Amino acid sequence: MRRPSRVATFIDKGGTGKTTVAAHLGVALAEAGEDVLLVDLAGKQGDLSKHFGLWDDVEESIESDDDWPNISTVFQDEWDIIVEKLGEDAVDDLIHGTDEDIDVIPAHPGLDSLDAELGNIDSPSDRYSRLDDFLTEYVDPLGYDVVLVDLPGITNNVTYNGLWAARNAVVPVEAGVFEASQLEALEQDLEKMDDSFGVTVDLSMVVPNKIDRRTKLSKEYLKEFRDAYPDVLGRPIPVSQEIRNAANDGHTVFDVDEPSKTGERACRRFAENAEELRVRISDDEPVRRTEAVSDD
Ligand SMILES: Nc1ncnc2c1ncn2[C@@H]1O[C@H](COP(=O)(O)OP(=O)(O)O)[C@@H](O)[C@H]1O
Ligand SMILES: [Mg+2]
Repeated sequence: MRRPSRVATFIDKGGTGKTTVAAHLGVALAEAGEDVLLVDLAGKQGDLSKHFGLWDDVEESIESDDDWPNISTVFQDEWDIIVEKLGEDAVDDLIHGTDEDIDVIPAHPGLDSLDAELGNIDSPSDRYSRLDDFLTEYVDPLGYDVVLVDLPGITNNVTYNGLWAARNAVVPVEAGVFEASQLEALEQDLEKMDDSFGVTVDLSMVVPNKIDRRTKLSKEYLKEFRDAYPDVLGRPIPVSQEIRNAANDGHTVFDVDEPSKTGERACRRFAENAEELRVRISDDEPVRRTEAVSDD
């Protein structure tokens, strides 16, 4: 069986649109016929789950002490005990369906202490490969085409796990000096991962987000991004109040009735980016082929 393509949305900065891009690329990929699972590692505020109206359910399960297992447990030694107890249901328990034809593993407050807990693991390769191991053993057999991981806007042990597992980074940037330098910092980080651990993470797509083409600044930065990243620059996503409103209402702009012109353009751009991304990640080598092939 083919392993699903994996992608992580990441940049070491909050608010550029990691969660928005993860949600919308996810839905765009689903509309193009892919089976998509979104994994929210971006923190206890559950932004990605909120995009799909799932967060009330999650909070309710936390309040009623019915939140075990959850995404933070898959990183811990405790996961083996959970699997022993629940069997195959363990991973099913994590996954929520949505109205927009994709599945989501929501965030959990346990993610807050996870960075420190992972920091206590001595061996770096063990510390950073926990998510990879979980996805390979428990999620790959479920047959998704794409697994999209939404990461927090900070470089830590959790984001290293996300990048290590995904091997493909999608990076939303706004028009600004700071974003350009953050992108360079990310590239250096990825190189370091390659040098230190032999784990190659591709910069699969840089997505200019919240772009207002009427402003000179946006135009200038678009040109700069195009010059710096000619091979991986995605189509710019317009700034759109509708994106913000949709998120607050618990869905994506794809699910807005009678969207505005800008909303429509945003959807079109997400769809084009999804198509491009699909081509770029689909020729990834399946990881751990030897384990996936049976002896008989
Ligand atoms: N293209 C856009 N147009 C308008 N608002 C946007 C756009 N993309 C993101 N936003 C808003 O910007 C804020 C930050 O986006 P978010 O995806 O949560 O960023 P991150 O995950 O990188 O912190 C959110 O309120 C979101 O609704
Ligand atoms: Mg986010």
